[in-house]
Parts: sequence; C-alpha cells; structure tokens
Amino acid sequence: MRDQWNNKLGFLLAAIGSAVGLGNLWRFPYIAGTNGGGAFLLPYFFAIITAGIPILILEYTMGKTYRGGAPVALARMNKKFELLGWFQVMCAFVISTYYFAIVVWTVSYIGFSVTEAWGSDASAFFVDFLGVTDSALNFGGIKGNLVVPFILIWVIVAFIMYKGISKGVEVACRICLPVLLVLIVILVVRGITLPGAVDGLEYMFKPDWEALKKPDVWVAAYGQIFFSLSIAFAIMVSYSSYLPKKTDVVNSAFITATANHGFELFAAIGVFSIVGYMANQQGVEVAEVAASGVGLAFMTFPTAISSLPALNALFGICFFGALFTAGLTSLVSILQAVISGMHDKFDMNHTKATTVVVVPSFLLSLLFITGAGLNILDIVDAFVNNIGIVACGLIEVILVGWFFPLEKLRQEANRFSNFSIGKWWIYALKIVTVIVLGVMIVLNTISFIKDGYGGYLVRDVAVFGWGMIAFVVIAGIVLNFMKGKDGYQDLNKISHKEVA
Ligand code: ALA
Repeated sequence: MRDQWNNKLGFLLAAIGSAVGLGNLWRFPYIAGTNGGGAFLLPYFFAIITAGIPILILEYTMGKTYRGGAPVALARMNKKFELLGWFQVMCAFVISTYYFAIVVWTVSYIGFSVTEAWGSDASAFFVDFLGVTDSALNFGGIKGNLVVPFILIWVIVAFIMYKGISKGVEVACRICLPVLLVLIVILVVRGITLPGAVDGLEYMFKPDWEALKKPDVWVAAYGQIFFSLSIAFAIMVSYSSYLPKKTDVVNSAFITATANHGFELFAAIGVFSIVGYMANQQGVEVAEVAASGVGLAFMTFPTAISSLPALNALFGICFFGALFTAGLTSLVSILQAVISGMHDKFDMNHTKATTVVVVPSFLLSLLFITGAGLNILDIVDAFVNNIGIVACGLIEVILVGWFFPLEKLRQEANRFSNFSIGKWWIYALKIVTVIVLGVMIVLNTISFIKDGYGGYLVRDVAVFGWGMIAFVVIAGIVLNFMKGKDGYQDLNKISHKEVA
C-alpha cells in the first residue's frame, strides 16, 4: 500500500515546506536587488502567473491523477514521456547533494552564532571554515570540523526519509514550518526597526524601470520561479501522488504559491533591512556589501549580525535557525522526489528505495565538504538551475502541451476544485511558457559556451558544469531503459485502494 498524507493540511505544509527553502532566503533578495529592484517584481509576478502557478497546477494534477513519482506518472500519460521524468529526478538528485552540504553549514553557523566565532572578518572566516582551495579540482581533503554536523544531519534526514510520507516528511514539516515563521518574524521586526533599514529596502525595492528592457531580467525572473516553487524537477509531482483523489489541486496550487512568495518577500524585507543597517554603520553603499548566493548568507549576514546593537547571538541563531528549518523541509522533498521515482518503477519497498537514494546522495555530498566544495557547488548550482531545470521545464510543457490532450488534465484539475481554471491555463503553458523557456535555454547555453561561468577555469566548468549535465542525461537514459516492475506504466493495474 502506497503511503498517503494524513490530510490536506499535511500535504500543504509539506508542499510549502518544499517551496520555502534556501532559495527564498539567499537567492531571491539578491536576484531582485541586482535585477532592477522594485521593477523586478513585475517580471517576477508575470512569471508566477504565466509559468509558476500553471506549472504547479499541472504537476499537482499529474501526480494526483497518475499516482507516481515523475517518471512513472509521465509514463502513465504516455510511455515515451518517462525519460523526461528521469532527467527531472536526476536533477533533483544532483541538487540534493549540495543542498545537503549547505544545510550542514547552517547547523555549524547556529553554533558559531553563540560566540560570533566569525570575528571581525566573516568572509575570511567562511573561507577558512570550508578550507576553500584555489580551484574546483583541488580537493584539499575533507574538512574535519564539518564531519560531526555532517553525520548528525545525515542521521536526521535519513530518519525522516525512512519514516516515509505520513510519519516522516509530514511530521518534520509540521514541526519546522511554525518554527521557521516565528524566527522570520523576529528577524523582520528587528530589521525594520533599525536605523538604515530603509536604505536596504530601497536597494531591494526601488524600481529601475530601465531594467525591464533587458532580457536578462526576465530570464532571471523565470529562473527564480522554478527553483523557488520546486517545479520541473520532480518534487511536486511526487508529493501530489500521495494525495487522495478528491483533493482540490487548484486551490492547493494557489495556496502554495501565495505562501511561498509571501514568505519570500517578507524574508527579503528582514534580510535587506539588516544589510541596510550594516551598510549604514560602515558608511558604504548597500550595493557594495550585498553579496550573491552563499556569500550573502555566510559572509554578509554574519557581519551584519555582529553589527547589531544588542542580542547579536540571538539574532544569529534566528537567522541560521531559519535557514536550517527552511533548508531541511526542502531537502526532504528533493530526496523524496528521487525515492518516489525509484520506488514506483522498480520492484523495491520503501526502505530499499530510500537506501538506494540516500546512500549515494550522502557519499556524493562529501565532495562539498572538501576544500573544493564551495567552487564545485557554485558551478553545479548554476548549471543545474540554468540549463538542467529550464530544459526539463521546457520539455515538460512541450510534451504535455503539444503531445498530450491538455484539456483532459484541465478537466481533471477542475473536477474537485471550487474554483475552475479556464482555457488561459492551456495557452499559458503551451505558448507563453514554451516561448519564454525556449528563449531562456538558448540565451543561457550561449552565455555558458561563450563566457564560461563565474571566471572559473574552463576545465572546472567542463567537469562540474557540462560534465554534470552529461551525468544527468546518461543516468536518466539508463534508468529509463532499466526493467521496471510489471505493469508500472499502467494506471489500471495499481490497486483500487491506492486511487481512492
Ligand atoms: N524550493 C526550494 C528552495 O527555494 C528548493 O530552496
């Protein structure tokens, strides 16, 4: 018998827990700030309406109707679609390895917050903490100080995954989400009451209308949506496959998206108020101190925390505690996407499926606690997001939009919904999203081929960027052609209890 969420709230908390993650806390504020500030919100809103919510409704409907992880759900729609599901699952697998490493860093930083161990130079501290080497192929060995948190978190995550959907993932999300909310509220209240907060908020929200003319800004908006909503890499199909048949997926999609983006904006207000205060104290421009990606969380923010007038340790614990809880509930969803993929196609029970996913993910994530970890992470993250997920999203909307009766899914989505989706949904998916993602993948590929990425050595980008994409493709093809359990592609062959 396949596991199921205890109730709709449990599912919603898990889906929101998946969406709200590291991406909201460190990626969104920076992407918005550097892509037109307040003006970025317009393309972002457009991307939410034309791609984010339509794809979320699509994936919820696919999972719930075809009751399987992405490869099996797609195979049940059309046998030839299964391969896409494996590409998506492999993207999720790759993401799980570095996401795990970042969650481990957040735990160490909760500890460092107590004494503000990063001292007066948080950037140097971070580089030293990870033992960062000069290139992605210069590993420099595993950092001893990371081993204990690494094992500790691995045990927690493995425990949740082995417990399964209703007793593991759902329980973890029911605990973590309220904690996360409290921590963020504390940070936002502290942030907006600081002198200089307004400079940070101005940096983040002041519209630069010129930015709207740049294709890069639109590409960034769509790029952020996929990672942020956990769509196009197997997660939401997997989660919704554990829903009872009568669930209203349309309102679930709106609730998930609203909660995710509401949280994202709210957290960004907290983060940029505090960064604004720090810039104000140092007498510099916010743009000078706002770093990107991991730099914002582990370099800029510790400095900002140390500059607070009082209770620095408490706010440090709040920030890294928020990162940890947000990261944990997303990490379990990423792993679950891969576990569902394996469990639903191959003849293995939940324990075995969990083992074949968690153990390799654990072993590969060791790469990220070596001295080369930070550089590898940066390259892998850029490629898997800008090429891997975008390509998966594009293939998904083309296959489902052009080679499948999408109207059938629209009716299926509307069947148990209070609020029916109109034909706009079909056009948003098969025309608008296809065009935007098509342009995106072309622009991103040209840019990576022409300029490489982030000033890294060509060799490093070849191995961890293009090499990783090749790994996703080859592993996807192998899994696609491996023999699955009898009749896994046939929805009618699964037990009636499961489709109730
Ligand atoms: N949606 C998750 C995040 O934003 C993966 O981090």
